[in-house]
Amino acid sequence: MKNTKRILVKSSVGKYAVVCGAGALARLSVEIANIGKFSSVHVVTSRSVWSAVGKFVSRGLGSARAVRLHTFKDGETEKNLKNVEGIARSLVKAGADRNAVVIAVGGGVVGDVAGFAAATYLRGVALVHVPTTLVAQTDSAIGGKTGVNLPDGKNLVGAFYPPRMVVVDTNVLKTLPQREFCGGLAEVIKYGVIADAKLFAFLEKNVEKLLARDPLALGHVITRSVEIKAKVVGKDERESGLREILNFGHTFAHALESATGYRKYQHGEAVAWGMMAAALFGHEIQITPAADASRIISLIRRMGKLPAWPNVAAKRLIELMGSDKKTRNGKLRFVLTPGIGKAATFDAGEREKLELILRVTPKVAEADALVWRD
Ligand SMILES: NC(=O)c1ccc[n+]([C@@H]2O[C@H](COP(=O)([O-])OP(=O)(O)OC[C@H]3O[C@@H](n4cnc5c(N)ncnc54)[C@H](O)[C@@H]3O)[C@@H](O)[C@H]2O)c1
Ligand SMILES: [Zn+2]
Repeated sequence: MKNTKRILVKSSVGKYAVVCGAGALARLSVEIANIGKFSSVHVVTSRSVWSAVGKFVSRGLGSARAVRLHTFKDGETEKNLKNVEGIARSLVKAGADRNAVVIAVGGGVVGDVAGFAAATYLRGVALVHVPTTLVAQTDSAIGGKTGVNLPDGKNLVGAFYPPRMVVVDTNVLKTLPQREFCGGLAEVIKYGVIADAKLFAFLEKNVEKLLARDPLALGHVITRSVEIKAKVVGKDERESGLREILNFGHTFAHALESATGYRKYQHGEAVAWGMMAAALFGHEIQITPAADASRIISLIRRMGKLPAWPNVAAKRLIELMGSDKKTRNGKLRFVLTPGIGKAATFDAGEREKLELILRVTPKVAEADALVWRD
């Protein structure tokens, strides 16, 4: 189909395609037929997602075969084992056998829960992701991580389970709430910072168009983000090294989210704050040139106002960073950029500098103008 791009992702169990473009879902049944012969087709989604975008998926699947629908309520608190059990039992009731295919239609929550259900139901049935948020299209549907939360913490139970295919149709984003959309854009900015100076410059030039969801601009940045994520996870599926760079801004973000009980920020908003802090910290410890830090902060500020920085002591935020599951041997490490388009992990070094940055970030981000020198 014209305007549809296929991006291949390498995984431990072979390659899979991310089919990307406006209208890509129209060919869903053909695409599924191309990856295999399945005994039955099961859409796993949430009621709210289905009422927003179900028509695209139904049309794409056509009426040639019976499709069973399994729904659960989405939302971060619904990302739990109880819903995995509910989906599995619903699959049993519908007679799903080992040759069934599960199509996960939704944001990261649906993708993670349905993905884990597919990974474990009868020890694994075929999985296709149809991501419907900007975050899911550019991030969570690619790379094979699935899982759920425990009362003790986020994503504590899960599996690496690559999908057989991902279908990214930008048309479904039209109904996405603005806050979710902006949060997704923060992750897109992240890709520019860590891997693609050209994407970053495109974002600088087109931020207003993107905020207005201009289909061409949006299609371009989504495709580029998918390519970057595909490349990173293709080289490091299990996050032993390179994949860490995807956490740019995230050590700070997780501390902000945890300090505010995951209620104050949409994840991407916390990442936006986290990227500004990472830019400033990188500059403070002489890794990030002033001009790059300044461009990162300016671009994020142009996305709109973020919920305020929390009223939490810098020392407390550092404590929370230390308990992040991604720290190694209790040592704080940060993904920082030596220049837009590049990223690597660095040890935090002196605590004082980190504390200083945690106090300064909210001020710099809210200042009227940025004046900056090395
Ligand atoms: N597996 C991974 O690699 C990975 C990566 C990043 C994030 N995640 C996970 O993803 C989750 C966050 O995902 P998210 O940001 O997509 O949020 P989400 O799945 O909670 O969706 C956000 C909201 O948007 C609604 N929605 C979804 N698509 C819509 C559409 N097209 N139109 C209207 N409303 C729509 C949903 O009902 C929900 O209320 C977190 O649990 C996070 O841990 C996983
Ligand atoms: Zn993130």
